[in-house]
Amino acid sequence: MSKILNKILSKYSGDKSDLIPILQDIQSNLGYLSEEAIIAVSKFAGIPESEIYGVATFYTQFRFTPVGKKHVMVCKGTACHVKGAPQIIEGIERHLDIKEGEVTFDMEYSLESVGCLGCCALAPCAMVNEDVESNLTLKDVKKIFSRMKRESKNNDCN
Ligand code: FES
Repeated sequence: MSKILNKILSKYSGDKSDLIPILQDIQSNLGYLSEEAIIAVSKFAGIPESEIYGVATFYTQFRFTPVGKKHVMVCKGTACHVKGAPQIIEGIERHLDIKEGEVTFDMEYSLESVGCLGCCALAPCAMVNEDVESNLTLKDVKKIFSRMKRESKNNDCN
């Protein structure tokens, strides 16, 4: 088992009621719930793997595949859909050369559509990690990724 998983699990008693917090903790540290993590949690808490998958798949917050360093979540709620979210998603797919649910080969970006982000007045909107991008247009897509590329280069230089 990886050191990170060991460290996360050491914070919990192994009680079944800790399952959701443990899964959240793992996802926030590793970015997703790997098969290795599910097996480790199963042994730790004495919960069958099938039950853990059952719980984790019930909640949309959990994912089973890795995400990129910059995870792009485009809102597909009603307000955003009406204001062009499907076109925004297509634009991002073209720009990154991936489909929704995929990660770029360099693990830099991943794309996912989500339900309402709670900022409908700013539709269509998306989140890149913790940052909200609002009133999106197709032109913005290119600008946003150029900006992120520049920021990434600057961070590499520092
Ligand atoms: S519908 Fe997109 S933020 Fe609410």
